[in-house]
Parts: sequence; structure tokens; C-alpha cells
Amino acid sequence: MLVTTKEMLLEAQKNHYAVGAFNVENMEMVQAVIAAAEEMRSPVIIQTTPSTLKYASPELYFANVKALAQKSVVPIAVHLDHGNSFELAMQTFRCGYTSIMIDGSPKSFEENIALTSAVVQAAHGAGIPVEAELGTVGGKEDSLDNGEGGYTDPQKAKEFVERTNCDSLAVAIGTAHGVYKHAPKLDLERLSAIRKVVDIPLVLHGTSGVDDDVVKECVKRGICKVNYATDLRIAYTKGVKEILAENPDVFDPKKYGTRGREYVKQYVMDKMQVVGSTNRI
Ligand code: 13P
Ligand code: ZN
Repeated sequence: MLVTTKEMLLEAQKNHYAVGAFNVENMEMVQAVIAAAEEMRSPVIIQTTPSTLKYASPELYFANVKALAQKSVVPIAVHLDHGNSFELAMQTFRCGYTSIMIDGSPKSFEENIALTSAVVQAAHGAGIPVEAELGTVGGKEDSLDNGEGGYTDPQKAKEFVERTNCDSLAVAIGTAHGVYKHAPKLDLERLSAIRKVVDIPLVLHGTSGVDDDVVKECVKRGICKVNYATDLRIAYTKGVKEILAENPDVFDPKKYGTRGREYVKQYVMDKMQVVGSTNRI
């Protein structure tokens, strides 16, 4: 069934686990993530970034998820990941997305508060929760320097949450998007310090490639939503490449899509166990 992330994340917070949020790029990846959730009896968040929504419309991704979610007993949320404008946030919200991230982290503290508050006001009117971000998760944001970047400051996080009324907060504690060249060293003490003064669910970004034990420790310290994107793309593409290498004459997209889908499903099932969301339904 299609749900918002509001109760889903509060339920996770109450019971000390996290929900996996998995980025999808096509129909097969949507099928894979939902099949994994059903097999593991796990709530799940399916999300798309602005660049994915340039490739195909929010309506198209939403329709894929909705068609499967309607027939499923597991709670499924459709989330805008790293929403980069008020307009895109409203576009996804109007087409049925059940959860929105507005990422004002490249902006100044005050501008981030203003943008986040505007989205919160519009979304909350319709019961849609909003994730915000404070601090700089590496990778995509590396080149953006607003003078206030870097790791999330606990006191600023407290003020930010109080002033914006956002429902969950992405924190910067040393992770980065994309493929890691070296294992990241996370600032777990900082995460605990944020948790002490911020009581809404916290979100970990850039989790592909982070050691499972480190992810588990983050969940213990207050992370309730864990984002995986890069490794799903790698898993899907690995399956496609394998089939084409085994039989270069294959031309039916269903043939290689099947293997890609299977690898994504396996990966997602594994990560659902890591974040502790299995057997919750
Ligand atoms: P990765 O691509 O590093 O898994 O990051 C996922 C993410 O944070 C999506 O918002
Ligand atoms: Zn992210």
C-alpha cells in the first residue's frame, strides 16, 4: 500500500530500526525494490532524484510505483530525493509523491530555512512530510561552498528543525555520494550529539559502500532512513552486462532486464536486513 514516510519513520524511530530508501531509474528497479520489500516483509521508500526526473517524468515513475503498491501489503512511500527547487517539490507533490525532500544545503543557513519552510507549509497542508538537509554530504555537493558547509552542527540543526518544522533531517557526518575511493570515516560522536538535541528522524545519505557494521551503528545512534543509490545502479548494470557478455546476440531487453532486476532485488534484501526493517509487517 502507498503511504507517507511520516508514520513509517516514526515507527522505525520508536522501535530502533531504519527504513531503506532506494533510488530507482527504471521500471525494473521499481519492481525489484518492491519484490524485495515483499519477500522481507519490510516497509520501503522508493526515491528519485531531479536528474532521474529529467530522464523521465515524475508521473511515469509514480505510476510504476502506484501500480505495484496498490497490490502490495507492505507500506511503500514514493519520495523526491534532493529536491532542488520549490517548483519541483510542488510538481512531485501534485502528481502523488507521498514524501518530499527539499535540499537547501548548498544555500546559506537562512536561505535554507526560508526554502525549507515554504515547502513544509505547502506540503503539510496535504499531510505530506518533508525531509530537509543541513551540512554538506560529499560527492554531488563537493564543489558548492557557501561558507557554512561541512559537517552538520548540532546546535544549528536544533535551531533549523525548530524554525522549519521539517519532519526528518539529512545530516552530514562524513558520508559522500557515489563510489568511495577510501572507506569513509564517519563522525559518530557528532551523530549522537545531533540526536541529543534533535528529536525528529535523522537520515543518512551516501550509504553505498559504507560498511554494514557502521550503518548499524548509525541506526543505533538515531538514523531512521538510510539512502542507497549508486550500488543499485551498479547491481542493475552488472546483470545487464553479464547477459550481454554471455550472449552478445541477445537483443530482447526483457532478457538482460531480468538479470539486472534480480541483482537489484538481492542487494535491496541484503540492505533491509542491515537497517533492521525486515519482518515488520
Ligand atoms: P549513494 O549513491 O552513495 O548510495 O547515495 C545515496 C543517496 O544519498 C541518495 O540521496
Ligand atoms: Zn543523498
